[in-house]
Amino acid sequence: MAIGFQFIISLFSLFSVTIAFAPILPRFPSSAVSAELKHRSHCTQNGLYRTKFFTQILDHFNFNPQSTQTFQQRYLINDTFWGGAKKNAPIFVYTGNEGNIEWFTQNTGFMFENAPPFQALLVFIEHRYYGKSIPYGGNKAVAYANTSTLGYLSSTQALADYATLIIDLKKNLSAHDSPIVVFGGSYGGMLAAWFRMKYPHIAIGALASSAPILHFMDLVSPDIFISIITQDFKSESENCYKVLKGSWKLIEETAKKPGGMELLRKTFRICKSDDFGTDSLASWLRTAWIYTAMTDYPTPSNFLNPLPPYPVKKMCEAIDSSVTKNNTLGKLYAAANVYYNYTGTTTCFNLDDDSDPHDLGGWQWQACTEMIMPVGGSNKNSIFPEYEWLYEDREAYCDSFYNVTPRPYWITTEFGGHAIDRVLKRFASNIIFFNGLRDPWSGGGVLKTISKSVVAIVAERGAHHVDLRYSSKEDPKWLKDIRKQEVKIIASWISQYYRDLKTNS
Ligand SMILES: *[C@@H]1O[C@H](CO)[C@@H](O)[C@H](O)[C@H]1NC(C)=O
Ligand SMILES: *[C@@H]1O[C@H](CO)[C@@H](O)[C@H](O)[C@H]1NC(C)=O
Ligand SMILES: *[C@@H]1O[C@H](CO)[C@@H](O)[C@H](O)[C@H]1NC(C)=O
Ligand SMILES: *[C@@H]1O[C@H](CO)[C@@H](O)[C@H](O)[C@H]1NC(C)=O
Ligand SMILES: *[C@@H]1O[C@H](CO)[C@@H](O)[C@H](O)[C@H]1NC(C)=O
Repeated sequence: MAIGFQFIISLFSLFSVTIAFAPILPRFPSSAVSAELKHRSHCTQNGLYRTKFFTQILDHFNFNPQSTQTFQQRYLINDTFWGGAKKNAPIFVYTGNEGNIEWFTQNTGFMFENAPPFQALLVFIEHRYYGKSIPYGGNKAVAYANTSTLGYLSSTQALADYATLIIDLKKNLSAHDSPIVVFGGSYGGMLAAWFRMKYPHIAIGALASSAPILHFMDLVSPDIFISIITQDFKSESENCYKVLKGSWKLIEETAKKPGGMELLRKTFRICKSDDFGTDSLASWLRTAWIYTAMTDYPTPSNFLNPLPPYPVKKMCEAIDSSVTKNNTLGKLYAAANVYYNYTGTTTCFNLDDDSDPHDLGGWQWQACTEMIMPVGGSNKNSIFPEYEWLYEDREAYCDSFYNVTPRPYWITTEFGGHAIDRVLKRFASNIIFFNGLRDPWSGGGVLKTISKSVVAIVAERGAHHVDLRYSSKEDPKWLKDIRKQEVKIIASWISQYYRDLKTNS
């Protein structure tokens, strides 16, 4: 069975690996979208924010008159708690990631919960080429057509968008002296950190949550991502680890037996209509293990799929359960059921569902150009079959898919990464790097505090940007403490800024 880990892993989605079950989008109460709240077509209200569009420049780095095209960039705004321009009240900006901005906004309760105490204006900016921020007149088919239209999809262009939009917004609000703090999780966290480094005249600080800015070639082992996932399961129980590790061979052997494919289909309750094979089954299981490790949150969640608290533990409990004593395939089914059927409403599993509800598809282009993040290598101790991650495979894939050659060292050329401590110690300030060590992306995160104001906050039990999520009464103490610490640091940046403003220093 060709289990070779496929090439492109978005921070959230695994491309060319089946996303087997459309995650249920958290939705707002429909009453909140009532007609009375709808303003003009360029300004709609949904209960948490108003939606606006800004005419953005397509190419910030070219003065060729032919490249002065524009596009409509979406941003979401909430001014309910804002102290106003007269008070120079702060503006919190979320630097959008590789997907629909509404999805990230809904999952960034930290900003909403801190808007009242900070009297902050909240702004969430969508990344170009995602959601509704599509160049070429909003025509996705054209924008994604080929290298010449996709060429404007890059992190540097996105950061320049954010800078341009923020400056224009401040002008419109006459909020010239309001301090900007940028926030982001995952790729959005990388952008937040880079934004503070590249545009310190615009943002006074950045909270970069689960931002793997070091997950690039020659900086991390391509095995680290899978090693962390392996450790997550192993730390629950040795048996859980062994069952997962042995599962690929078991599936392969079962498939070879007479009636084996039918047995697999029945055991895993694969839909009858589904054209399934051992490869799609393996990738379906792999997706479940990876995402569950990434979103191993301490409270019930619904980021990618609805999940119970500490879902890795739940999966291992399902595997270790005596109910399926001699039935290893049954154990694997029970574990997958935690990820794909926590709501209990799925009648059968559809392995070839490749829907993309959060609109993450553009990442594939980014992963074929500048985001060469070595992920998916798997060594002999891993719960996945051994697999060597090779840059050449990515290159060949991108050549065949887009006819494009990646620039694997561009990100570290543009933003740095080597000897990060030494560099950031001298020139950077006011950045928080949060990482949860259960999160496989933490392998490429900044895990050590670099200076008094470039601070790493590390949560041993934390998962992917858990700090940015809405708080709940059931949150463990470590999580509450981390959020308090972050708030305290941000407050110190803002008061320092006001002191400087007052004394003109
Ligand atoms: C801002 O968010 C709060 C919830 O935190 C909500 O009650 C309020 O209606 C929102 N305001 C706008 C203008 O959308
Ligand atoms: C790329 O796609 C656009 C939009 O469909 C088209 O106008 C253009 O000719 C294409 N360019 C190349 C090089 O194929
Ligand atoms: C600022 O105001 C102008 C004029 O109304 C508008 O075109 C522009 O989109 C506004 N900028 C932002 C960021 O909303
Ligand atoms: C488990 O399988 C072994 C070997 O096939 C068998 O001897 C044993 O009776 C089985 N135990 C149960 C509880 O089914
Ligand atoms: C999903 O869970 C429900 C409730 O536990 C169960 O009845 C159903 O069979 C499960 N679906 C699948 C496909 O296993």
